Amino acid sequence: MSETEILPGGPRLRQGSGIGQPLTRRDGMLKVTGRARYAADNHPDGMLHAVLAVAAIARGRVVSLDLEAARAQPGVVEVMTPANRPTLALDPDAKHHGFMFRLDLLQNDRVRYANQPIAVVIAETLEAASEGAARLSPVYETETVETDLSAQGFVPEVVGPGHPAEAASGDVEAGFRSAEHRVEAVYETAAQYHNAMEPHAIVAAWEGGRLSIDTPSQGMAMAQGRIAGLFGIAPEDIHIRSPFLGGGFGSKGMISGPQVLGILAARLVGRPVKLVLRREHMYGPVGHRAQTRQTLRLGVDGDGRLTALHHHTKTASSRFDDFFEPASDISQTLYAAGAVKTSHEAVRIDTGTPLFMRAPGEATGSIALEVAIDEAAEAAGMDPLAFRLRNYATVEPISGKPFSSKALRECYARAAERFGWDARPLRPGTMRDGDGLLTGWGMGTATFPALMFEARARGLLRADGTGVMETGAHDMGQGAWTALAQIAADAIGLPIDAVAFNAGTSDLPDAGIAGGSGHTATAGMALHAAGADIVAKLAAIATQDEASPLFGAGNVGVVARDGRLMRRDDESRGESVSAIMRRAGVETIEGTGKSGGDPQAREAYAMHAHGAVFAEVKVDPDLGQMRVTRLVGAFAAGRVINPRLVESQLFGGMIWGVSFALHERASVDRRSGRIMNADLGEYHVPVNADIPAMEAILVHEDDAHVNALGIKGVGEIGITGTAGAVANAVWHATGRRVRRFPVEIADLVMG
Ligand code: MOS
Repeated sequence: MSETEILPGGPRLRQGSGIGQPLTRRDGMLKVTGRARYAADNHPDGMLHAVLAVAAIARGRVVSLDLEAARAQPGVVEVMTPANRPTLALDPDAKHHGFMFRLDLLQNDRVRYANQPIAVVIAETLEAASEGAARLSPVYETETVETDLSAQGFVPEVVGPGHPAEAASGDVEAGFRSAEHRVEAVYETAAQYHNAMEPHAIVAAWEGGRLSIDTPSQGMAMAQGRIAGLFGIAPEDIHIRSPFLGGGFGSKGMISGPQVLGILAARLVGRPVKLVLRREHMYGPVGHRAQTRQTLRLGVDGDGRLTALHHHTKTASSRFDDFFEPASDISQTLYAAGAVKTSHEAVRIDTGTPLFMRAPGEATGSIALEVAIDEAAEAAGMDPLAFRLRNYATVEPISGKPFSSKALRECYARAAERFGWDARPLRPGTMRDGDGLLTGWGMGTATFPALMFEARARGLLRADGTGVMETGAHDMGQGAWTALAQIAADAIGLPIDAVAFNAGTSDLPDAGIAGGSGHTATAGMALHAAGADIVAKLAAIATQDEASPLFGAGNVGVVARDGRLMRRDDESRGESVSAIMRRAGVETIEGTGKSGGDPQAREAYAMHAHGAVFAEVKVDPDLGQMRVTRLVGAFAAGRVINPRLVESQLFGGMIWGVSFALHERASVDRRSGRIMNADLGEYHVPVNADIPAMEAILVHEDDAHVNALGIKGVGEIGITGTAGAVANAVWHATGRRVRRFPVEIADLVMG
């Protein structure tokens, strides 16, 4: 029962057998049997292997490389350095717009961060290339590094993807003065690095002036544009295949320097080249989540109402480019307060440029805000949930806009009930389990904006009742192959198995970027529009055909479902798609559609997904060892396309939240600027044993404004809320308020 309604006022989509069904991943069998071809699985004829040599210093210059030794390694074909790197049409340090980040493409001998690529060794085998890279024995001239936030800060022009660095409504200082309770605290978050299961990889082949590449990408059209600019060729001469990503999380949103180095290497040697990052190469040139020091100042009146909320973030960017973690922004959205102010400042340090990492800004800001809210509730002597409800925002605090929809109260209620929050003692350090472990319960509010981008799609309906729907969408593990096919089938009014859904290559219409949790809404709306275009053309044929039972139904509207077209007011009066098309002598009907959201609605409403997360943590009172033992979240994110995949996305986000609170920290050597734990042995991410039974409750939410499908997105919201909930549970278990994340054992048993 898939259906699209064509009404005189335009297309409507009703939930059919596509949308809403808990289908398993359509690409799942390919993946579990190893037949899904990831970028590094490609081996074109004549292909060589490239391996990066990276800097072992964080600031200075490369004085020499032992090229002879590297070239003497049997199998080594070429060593690419600034001396012989093919020329580019564009300086990789040129900046034409905010989203164009500077890349390290061997443009000179400068080293500006640890693990910066300084040479590429190209060889017949991976082993030879690796050995060649090891033989380069770089000699450096080193300069003093800065690695922390201690320098005098400056106010960036914009933060994140172009947001103002400061925003305010009301007078926060007056709000503090009038407050009965005040909380002022500083929260620190560590730098975090990307550890997608699949590191960045590329197989690049030049075919004359055309470039063919296999590489994981969250945004193929943007990658085409960036590469086209660098190489001085037309975007349409670049063919990108990116059918599967082994995780992206923002690190594959824009083409990275190492991927471009793979293309340069292929050009240098005139053969196809494969370049796959080693795990430690992920810690520098592909973006990371910047460290922050956040100051939260909250004033609370005698009734537990926030009189003032000021969220200030100090963060670090690189010396050579601008990306500023927008951690304070979350406080513009979440809690009603008499006055709200958000602000940012930054310093420059010797690091690779920080960039987007799952819920950039929101994740980082959420843990500080949610712990500060917990502290404010404590100061007011209130239960943390009651305190949040007392300060529930019915309009977006700074903008004053109404929410397009906000089922956060239901999220609080359902997750709290499921968790058993009612039984929580107010005082910390009072619960022990049967094994004598300190037990604590904490909560946090989750939120993430409902973003949409530009996208296009096209489709084709055949007289045999089958169809094709396509858009260059990106599946980074979130389930785009499945969820978008569900939307596509409903849009064209066919059963899902009658529709071939194509995605994952740059030959298809641009599906926009798979980021900002907006891909399902963005690519989905383009598919929806393309399907509606086709159904409208089919309806025009049927309703004007005197031989059709649909003759004259134009005024009441028609419904396309399961390969049939029917009168909207009487579904028994209809006929198959095939009958309509065959009688009219029409073999195929094509259609196109685009997405981008309704600009007026986007202006009028604040659009966010929301959620509530409750965590139980157990702490060994002697050893300080912490373990999350229960996690319950409830999320309202508009229409759910596939509950199985949405739950999986939310679990993934919640696991990142646990990781943020208790695990992830890049440890940087202050003397050298090198990352001391640039590997999965020492950089901690949760393993299965760290993750408890989880529940993600999906709270129904109708949103008429966000887009015609009512989709808000679920990719990032799970981290927000969860990180703070876990940290608050640690406090509730122990009475120790740790404000530096991740919380470590030493924070609980020492000092
Ligand atoms: Mo996400 S950090 O927008 O991939």
